[in-house]
Amino acid sequence: MQISAVAKEINEWSGSVLICGILEGRIESQINSFKTIIKDSYLSQRFNDAKFEGQKSQKLSIELNEGKIKKIIFVGLGKAENLQVEDLRKAASIGTRQVLGYEKKLGISFPWDAFDPSSAASAVGEAVRLSSIKDLRFKSEPKESTSIEEVELIGLNVKATELAIAEINPICEGVKFARELVSAPPNFLTPYQMSKEAEKLASDYDLDLKILNKQECEDQGMGAYLAVAKGSDLDPKFIHLKYSSKTAKNKIVLIGKGLTFDSGGYNLKVGASQIEKMKYDMGGSASVLGAARSIAELKPSNIEVHFIVASCENMINGSALHPGDIVKASNGKTIEVNNTDAEGRLTLADALVYACKLEPNAIVDLATLTGACVIALGDEIAGLWTDDDKLSSQLTKAAAKAGEGIWRMPMQDSYKSGIKSSIADLQNTGPRPGGSITAALFLKEFVNSNIPWAHIDIAGTCWTEKDRGINPKGATGYGVRMLVNWIKDLSQKPN
Ligand code: BES
Ligand code: MN
Ligand code: ZN
Repeated sequence: MQISAVAKEINEWSGSVLICGILEGRIESQINSFKTIIKDSYLSQRFNDAKFEGQKSQKLSIELNEGKIKKIIFVGLGKAENLQVEDLRKAASIGTRQVLGYEKKLGISFPWDAFDPSSAASAVGEAVRLSSIKDLRFKSEPKESTSIEEVELIGLNVKATELAIAEINPICEGVKFARELVSAPPNFLTPYQMSKEAEKLASDYDLDLKILNKQECEDQGMGAYLAVAKGSDLDPKFIHLKYSSKTAKNKIVLIGKGLTFDSGGYNLKVGASQIEKMKYDMGGSASVLGAARSIAELKPSNIEVHFIVASCENMINGSALHPGDIVKASNGKTIEVNNTDAEGRLTLADALVYACKLEPNAIVDLATLTGACVIALGDEIAGLWTDDDKLSSQLTKAAAKAGEGIWRMPMQDSYKSGIKSSIADLQNTGPRPGGSITAALFLKEFVNSNIPWAHIDIAGTCWTEKDRGINPKGATGYGVRMLVNWIKDLSQKPN
């Protein structure tokens, strides 16, 4: 998909479909600008008939029989005074969905003036790209339909948007990669397959890669991570990718929870716990590997980024973890496993200890960690836990720019009593109330307190059951764009 800005008026543009954003309450003046394409009396009649007033998400398609344009899709943007970049994203995605499969060349005309040109270009370009991704890998007879080949952002300044537009493709490829990892079923995306995906990234983009096998993890004393992997016939794979610019001033570690399937273990997921969805329990690692793909292509300067995934399956066999087992993590802390379904934090514990040994300037982990976070924030907002205000505001800003929802949650230290064990140093689960907070507090036990660290619970956001336009039903690729925005910001800021 070729995206570009063109310094043209609507009436100079030619292509198959034009998507036009219409502001509510200003219909008359906007109709005027189409004069040369459609007769204004006809257009206002059509708007009247359809009761189209430019309200948010309203849409109206008009086919044209003559002239350079086949069809115009009008999409409502709501009132000018409330206009947000998110409205442009939504409108672009509504328009894209209308033409997907039929037309090759799209023009988009929005009231750009209200926005910084490069932010508007990224938002709209990403929205078109991300709304048109279709995963046909598992169809026996994939029906490839016409894909959108060319998108022109009509009336946007070419120079001012050049850089932003060049970044759309690398960023969206990272999101697509993350979505594909999440959608892949657990008999396809195994820990071994995940390590192969990392190998492919490393060789395609010249990244450093280290994969620790089970024995090497044992040598590192990763007893918490390995305890989870024990119940599976598949070997664990500890993945460590590294991107480094020539002059690296900042060192960052991104960690993703990588459970290619979570059955719950002996605390088996029963009833409404959605065991059949648990292929997406590697959503954190998908975001991290997706970000690795984007970053490797964008090549930001002044930064070294490590991508870490302690991948395995949580299964049941004769050597699986028993509820009640006591295991020892690589920092020497002992953990009573009072629930085998709280496995993510066990794998992350050893990944965090490993990350700290790299002595980074910051660590961020993403994990589909708790059902409690889904209950608290739903599927559009991830939970953010950190003691570091600076890191919190950096990540919040990066997420906002991406249009990804995030909300800072309390690191309530007094709740630590909930994960106290009477026999070991810790137990892996606390009481049900505040379950996402005790999960974060558990992770904190494995991070050096002098390293800024943030934990992001994406249990709700990594998957969507409803079609959200820019996020069609299924894997969302949540987090990739936030992470990339954050890394880009860091690379531009001298340390
Ligand atoms: N992978 C799940 C969390 C999850 C639940 C993700 C629903 C997406 C949707 C995690 O491993 C888990 O099972 N957590 C338990 C923790 C509990 C045993 C303390 C949970 O949230 O129920
Ligand atoms: Mn679990
Ligand atoms: Zn899990």
